[in-house]
Order: sequence, then C-alpha cells, then structure tokens
Amino acid sequence: MQVSDVLPPTMFAGKTVFVTGGGSGINLGVARNFAALGASLGICGRTAERLESARAELEGLGAKVSTSVADVRDYDALAAALETTRTELGPIDVLVCGAAGNFLAPAEAMSANGFKTVVEIDLIGSFNASRAAFEQLKETRGTILFISAPQGSVPHFAQAHCGAAKAGVDNLMRNLALEWGRYGIRSNGIVPGPIAGTEGMKRLGPQDDKANAEIQATIPLGTYGSVDDIGQAAVFLASPLASYVTGALLTVDGGAYLGGTRLMAHKIQSMLAQQKGRGDG
Ligand code: HXC
Ligand code: NAP
Repeated sequence: MQVSDVLPPTMFAGKTVFVTGGGSGINLGVARNFAALGASLGICGRTAERLESARAELEGLGAKVSTSVADVRDYDALAAALETTRTELGPIDVLVCGAAGNFLAPAEAMSANGFKTVVEIDLIGSFNASRAAFEQLKETRGTILFISAPQGSVPHFAQAHCGAAKAGVDNLMRNLALEWGRYGIRSNGIVPGPIAGTEGMKRLGPQDDKANAEIQATIPLGTYGSVDDIGQAAVFLASPLASYVTGALLTVDGGAYLGGTRLMAHKIQSMLAQQKGRGDG
C-alpha cells in the first residue's frame, strides 16, 4: 500500500517539510511519504553523498528538494540550512526532528563524552532545530514531529545515553506543545518500534535470522515495522486530520512494548494451563 493510494496525492502540495537526518532510514522514509503527497522537502545531515542520493529518490517522486550539510549540534549551521530551505522552497510547514546517534555501551563502560555525544545529537539537536525553525513555523502555523524511541520511556540495557536523550525529547515535545499552541504550532512525537532494515536495528538488534524470528514472535502483530509505517504516522500527525492533536506521543510498534508484563503473562498462561489440566479451571 502506498500512502497516495489512500490519501489525496495533493494533500501536502505547496507545503514545505524539513527533516533533520533526512538522508537515510526512517527519516528518509518519512520524507518519501510527504513527497508522495505533494510536499517539497528540505533535508539535512552530515554526509553530502547521502543527502544527494536521498535527493534523487525524492525528486523521483516529483518533489522539489533542498539539501544542506549541517550537524544538528551546530545551531548556526542548522539555522542557515533552514534559511536556505525557506529561500528555495518557501517557509517550513512541518519540521521533523529525526537526527540521532546510537551505539550499544553498558553504562559502566560508557565514556562521559559518549553519553554527552548522544544527548547532544538527539536532545539538543532537536531543540536547536525547533528553536531555529520557530519563526517560520509561527508564520505557517506549522507542526513539529519528534522521532523518539522506546528507550525514552522503558529502560534498555546498554542504552543509558539514548534513554536519557529520548526522555528529554519527549518532554521537550510536550513543553513546546504547551508554549507554542498559542501560535497555532502543534508539537507531537512518534515512538517507532523495531523497524526492519534500518541503521538502528543494525547497531542494536541481533544479526541472525533465528534471533530475529524469536523477537518477532513476541510482537503482538508478529513482525518488525517498516519505514513506511512511521512515514504514514508522520503524515497523519502533520495533516488536518490531526488538527486538534498536540502534545501526543504516538507509539507505532505493532504492540511490541506491551510486553512489559510478558514474563508475568507467560507464568499466568502456564498456571491456567496447569489448572485446566487438573480440571479446576
Ligand atoms: C562506545 C563509543 C562508540 C561505541 C562512539 N563512542 N562509538 N563508545 N561504543 N560503539 C564514543 C567515542 O569513543 C567518543 O567518546 C564519543 O562516543 C564520540 O564519538 P565520535 O565518533 O567522536 O562521535 P561522532 O563522530 O559525533 O558520532 C556520533 C556517534 C556515531 C553517535 C558516535 O555512532 C554516529 O554518527 N551515529 C549516527 C547514526 C546512528 O547512530 N544511527 C542509529 C540511530 S538509532 P570518547 O570518550 O572516546 O571521546 C537510534 C535508536 C534506535 O537512535 C532504536 C532501535 C531499536
Ligand atoms: P539512521 O539511518 O542512522 O538515521 C539517522 C540520520 O541522522 C542519518 O541520516 C544521519 O546522517 C543523521 N545524523 C546523525 N547525526 C547527525 C548530526 N549530528 N547532525 C545531523 N544529522 C545527523 O538511523 P534510523 O535507524 O533510521 O533512525 C532514525 C530515527 O528513528 C532516529 O531518531 C532513531 O532514534 C529513531 N528510531 C529508530 C528505530 C529503529 O528501529 N531503527 C527505533 C526507534 C527509534 P549522517 O550520519 O550523514 O549525519
């Protein structure tokens, strides 16, 4: 299913969407879904070649594209990228804060700079983008989408940096919803579950088919997600269909994180089976 099979292919015509970290993975998937509905796309990242390859893909969908090499930790570079996008494509209607960094490191082995680096990319980078885009978003009565992660609400082993950063992102999202609603700016977050074929899963997920099959068997909907699952959620939250939604965190994970009580559920299932076996259930 393509998003344009379900929604009008002109839904975002005349709108400008800016995606930090838009050159790859989930963020590029988000950009593609907006492009398929007529939006123009501004994307930034640190790697020129990655951005140019993404540009070709998005132009192939008919979008006008502006690319800027900018590190989200560098406020001035980001502000310049947003200004270039405005000049080339018009003021920004939708800002997607998607740039992130991650690696597995148990807290006792993580250097102070490793922790700081992830917080600076994910959390401070998200504030930098929101702050630098504020005047444009105020003008368009636009919307911000933060790409969060389950680590922001559920502790994960070897993920202290990401957990702290994404928890901060979630609260920043709510704070901006509270403060900027009066300007007509909506602010929401998306929590992707495990998304197949991404850099995040390459870095953090198991690499063998058996382990991946075992994990997918524990997900209520039975499978990892796709980048389009996240792109479609982003389109919904940025669209007029969500015009009264702000301060919300939309989990798109096939139910993966309902498993907080999985061990308890397993024990209860065994207990019920035993009771049935004894004829008292
Ligand atoms: C331990 C590490 C490390 C590793 C880097 N560091 N990699 N520590 N294990 N594997 C430490 C370094 O030693 C250094 O600390 C500090 O982190 C900064 O490292 P740099 O290489 O100088 O940082 P930089 O070049 O800015 O790169 C940032 C990065 C890198 C985060 C380290 O991995 C990156 O650029 N990632 C971008 C792509 C990415 O991560 N995508 C996945 C997003 S997935 P010292 O003390 O030595 O100076 C995601 C959630 C996914 O966010 C959820 C999936 C389920
Ligand atoms: P990805 O492809 O590595 O995406 C991250 C992007 O951010 C890259 O294009 C990267 O490009 C850019 N980036 C990194 N550091 C940057 C910086 N300092 N300044 C500007 N751009 C920077 O990884 P992904 O797995 O698709 O993750 C995308 C988003 O989804 C992240 O926010 C992640 O936390 C979230 N997420 C992913 C999963 C998953 O299953 N993959 C699950 C939950 C949440 P450059 O390196 O060229 O700069």
